[in-house]
Amino acid sequence: MYQRKDLLGLKELTADEISLILDTAVPMKEIIQRDIKKVPTLRGKSMVTLFYEPSTRTKTSFEMAGKYLSADTSSLTVSASSVVKGESLIDTGRTIEVMGTNVIVIRHQAAGAPHLLAKNVKARVINAGDGMHEHPTQGLLDLFTMREKKGDLGNLTVAILGDIMHSRVARSNIWGLTKFGAKVHVVGPSTLIPKEIKQMGVKVFHSVEEAVKNVDVINVLRVQRERQKKGLIPSLKEYAKVFGLDKKRASLAKPDALIMHPGPMNRGVEIMPDVYECEQSVVDEQVTNGVAVRMAVLYLLMGGKGVYEATN
Ligand code: CP
Repeated sequence: MYQRKDLLGLKELTADEISLILDTAVPMKEIIQRDIKKVPTLRGKSMVTLFYEPSTRTKTSFEMAGKYLSADTSSLTVSASSVVKGESLIDTGRTIEVMGTNVIVIRHQAAGAPHLLAKNVKARVINAGDGMHEHPTQGLLDLFTMREKKGDLGNLTVAILGDIMHSRVARSNIWGLTKFGAKVHVVGPSTLIPKEIKQMGVKVFHSVEEAVKNVDVINVLRVQRERQKKGLIPSLKEYAKVFGLDKKRASLAKPDALIMHPGPMNRGVEIMPDVYECEQSVVDEQVTNGVAVRMAVLYLLMGGKGVYEATN
């Protein structure tokens, strides 16, 4: 049983709790491969997505996950809501809650916003990305994909390549992977690697070639173009030349190494199109697994029953 009220980050979860979510996602993946992708498990339960930042994958996959489990789902478009009239996060959350909502899925530009909401509502809160802090369901779907393809996470060496400093995906991956004993390499421009990252138990590199040598997984992060304005990278062209994952660099990893990217991608910048298209790339499967993992999270938080039954 998942005993927590909310899912706010992988930092606070134990390896057993993470394993429970990943194990629960296995039958969920089977459901989404059926012709009729619907089970009555969460009938009568409700979920609202509350996204203060844009999203394609996370928001849509939560909505699909809820629908596949027969929950009632609704999405609040923040830019067309009373948030623009100045309504606070807490008041917005309470308003959604008193409509009878069981789960609020929130993405917010401020680190800690989901935690603040969770303290102030009885509804369960899922963090769908908060500032540079965590993106726990992305971390979980990445771990699920690695475990599904490679087995025991504790045997893996994973290189995370790119803008580590601003990446909540990197942080959730690191918290999750290190709990299982995986070795984690981080690599990117020195301006995009925070000094304190070493305290998370990772090995820091500034050469892609050295970082990816013999690894089992290369997880490539999006270059956040908005950071260019701060002068943290000289140009996208320069970045692609020094840190972009091309076939030659990818070939230094183990021959069967996985190539991952959380999306959205800048093709030709952090990842070359032929690397994304290659046999080792599991980028599309990560998206599919995102639905399965989010179904598992909703199921565990809302106490679903009878997961295997088909809807009549
Ligand atoms: N990986 C990810 O969070 O993508 P979206 O921003 O499209 O949700």
